[in-house]
Amino acid sequence: ESIPLEMHKVRIVQKLNLPPVERRLEAITEAGNNTFLLRNADVFMDMLTDSGVNAMSDQQLAAMMIADDSYAGSATYTRLENKLHEIFGMPFFLPAHQGRACENILAQVLVSPGSVVPMNYHFTTTKAHITLNGGKVEELVADVGLEVVSVHPFKGNMDVAKLRDVIGLHGADKIAFVRMEAGTNLIGGQPFSVQNLADIRRVCDEFGLMLVMDASLLADNLHFIKEREEACKGLSIRDITRRMADLCDVIYFSARKLGCARGGGMCIRSEELYRRMRGLVPLYEGFLTYGGMSVREMEALTVGLEETMDEEVINQGPQFIGFMVDELVKRGIPVITPAGGLGCHINAMQFVDHIPQAQYPAGALASALYLAGGIRGMERGTLSEQREPDGSELFANMELVRLALPRRVFTLSQVKYAVDRLEWLYANRRLIGGLVFTEEPEILRFFYGRLAPV
Ligand code: F0G
Repeated sequence: ESIPLEMHKVRIVQKLNLPPVERRLEAITEAGNNTFLLRNADVFMDMLTDSGVNAMSDQQLAAMMIADDSYAGSATYTRLENKLHEIFGMPFFLPAHQGRACENILAQVLVSPGSVVPMNYHFTTTKAHITLNGGKVEELVADVGLEVVSVHPFKGNMDVAKLRDVIGLHGADKIAFVRMEAGTNLIGGQPFSVQNLADIRRVCDEFGLMLVMDASLLADNLHFIKEREEACKGLSIRDITRRMADLCDVIYFSARKLGCARGGGMCIRSEELYRRMRGLVPLYEGFLTYGGMSVREMEALTVGLEETMDEEVINQGPQFIGFMVDELVKRGIPVITPAGGLGCHINAMQFVDHIPQAQYPAGALASALYLAGGIRGMERGTLSEQREPDGSELFANMELVRLALPRRVFTLSQVKYAVDRLEWLYANRRLIGGLVFTEEPEILRFFYGRLAPV
């Protein structure tokens, strides 16, 4: 049996609470069966997300103490800018308060009515910003990316032939940019290969298109490249990162994931584009030397980015996720394979195959798992989609419950507890019923919509 090994020790802990099942039923009912609306006090294992909740290192915490507080010209900002320049080699940087803020600025500058943005796969906030600006998302992930059970090492790859078709169909002048999402979130934290990125670059060059990488989940993607891509096995994480960055025109990220801090930013190759985007930073984020981030977080991010270049740091998440996925597979519980980054993804379409997609099987399963074990996961299925302009439901390609493993947060026994609760729930899955909205917000409804049992 392969047991993941923590390459760190625990030095600060937080007391947890496991409320009794009667309280859990009250809590999830109060939350409208939406795990986003649960209070932490009612949650035992918070597997909602890996965003902003990764454990920081002692070095990161120490760096926070020397942060240089200043509205403009902070030395902390200069350290961050230099680190990004060193790692990605891009000449320009703009800070933002988090990943979606980068998407707002990118979309406002590059997307207009009629624009098309081809990408390997959408992320919720990405798609919302593109459509808000009148653009359309084209999802071009290779077909294998949507197969739940697979042994393909790079399920996040874009299908190059599909990209050519989309360019042919709309015309290159309609393409705002091509977007590649590292560690493709909504299909199970699946990586793309350096080879695929290089192939996409070649098409972009042919048609004069910009290539934008969402690097929020780059750490996991880097680990998988190092492990699975033959041509990269001899390269350091730093070399692989640079090889990827050299293929891109813009790299943006959520620092709530990348760098285990909070914040975000955009590294930009073209001065002209930098100037166009720059104007929006003071408008939406804050002055150019903080962009909505606290100096303490920027200082922690600088250290966190450097730590991301260490294979023994970035392998921790994927190894624990790999363990959990293996344990679930052994028990016949339907889960996305191969294990990706970010978390473990339960296939609700199969787990609760008696619940129709119109009744949000993944939402129902997430709610049930909270009841069964005080575990908070996140629906990543039809609930997380936006309705079509005519109001009809857009059924997601996959109905997933994501159980995120925030980096370095959970111990192996907690992971085993989650496996045990899932095993119980799977044996009793016919107890789970579908959900219907009682309150449905128009934008990003999954965040604060409320539902009730059908
Ligand atoms: N891009 C990707 C790939 C993401 O996973 C996220 C956030 C964002 C952009 C937006 O960044 O949250 O800093 O504004 N993902 C979080 C999650 C919310 O839970 O998966 P943000």
